[in-house]
Amino acid sequence: MSEIRTLGVVGAGTMGSGIAHVAAQSGLAVTVVETDARQLARAQDYIREIDRRSVAKGRLSEEAAAEIFSRLSFQQDLDALGSADLCVEAIYEDLEAKKAIFRRLDEVARPGAILATNTSSMSITEIGRVTGRPDRTCGLHFFNPAQVMKLVEVVRGYNTSDATMAEAQAFATQLGKTPIAVQKDQPGFVVNRVLMPFLAEACKVVEEGVASVEDVDTAVKLGLNHPMGPFTLLDFTGVDVCYAVMDYFYREFGDPAYKPPLLLHQLVRAGRMGRKSGAGFYDYAS
Ligand code: 3HC
Repeated sequence: MSEIRTLGVVGAGTMGSGIAHVAAQSGLAVTVVETDARQLARAQDYIREIDRRSVAKGRLSEEAAAEIFSRLSFQQDLDALGSADLCVEAIYEDLEAKKAIFRRLDEVARPGAILATNTSSMSITEIGRVTGRPDRTCGLHFFNPAQVMKLVEVVRGYNTSDATMAEAQAFATQLGKTPIAVQKDQPGFVVNRVLMPFLAEACKVVEEGVASVEDVDTAVKLGLNHPMGPFTLLDFTGVDVCYAVMDYFYREFGDPAYKPPLLLHQLVRAGRMGRKSGAGFYDYAS
């Protein structure tokens, strides 16, 4: 099993930037591809800022920060990923958009390279099927912030080979993460399958007037020792992202229990997306 030395990341949003950063911290050469030049610039600023804070805290030397940044290349064309050992797609949650990326990745990536998706919930099998290498496709689901959160869900699509699963798990370990193997390609895998009903229930508690947004967050933080209450987490992850995942569950499982709560739908309609674009429940931004 060969070690991953060069990584391609498609999409320079929160997750793409975080994954690229953690890989560069682990010594890999990383190429980030993002068509939106402004987003690409924001990703560079974000990575520099996080490292600047680490330098200020004495956790990282100036030289080490410069070295990490020098391992990163920022590009606007997928053709730049031809030499990557593994490519991970981290664009927004839209199945057709992801399939289009995978079609192109299959053309540009070298034979044998692993093609992975950071999708939060969508079918690895469907995404892999549009490529000529469904055995070399899998899910690699990181958590936000990718630099901090230890878990990576490695997800097996119907056609994913055992070798690909083993290599993808070894890659997560190489990044200092703890992988778990998700053996069935079911919506939401493990974490989001558990998390989304929890977030939805928090919304219903507020809708029913049982307690306020602030008090539900306080209850969960102090009663369950979670680092963030559900509404802070909704803003942090993106109200739109959580809504999209819940809506996908509702359609895929065909079960009314998964219907996204009205409160969330209203916030999305009002353009209140949390940290992504404007005020959510609190306008959380870090
Ligand atoms: N990017 C990079 N690093 C970050 C960061 C960010 N956005 N936010 C915080 N950090 C780092 C800090 O630099 C700090 O590093 P240090 O220990 O080297 O100094 C460390 O994390 C701790 O940060 P803080 O002291 O500022 O703050 P907290 O102790 O409150 O931790 C937190 C912040 C890690 C975000 C914590 O609140 C937390 O764990 N929250 C829950 C996050 C969570 O549940 N994520 C999963 C979301 S669901 C998901 O991603 C799935 C998706 O598919 C929907």
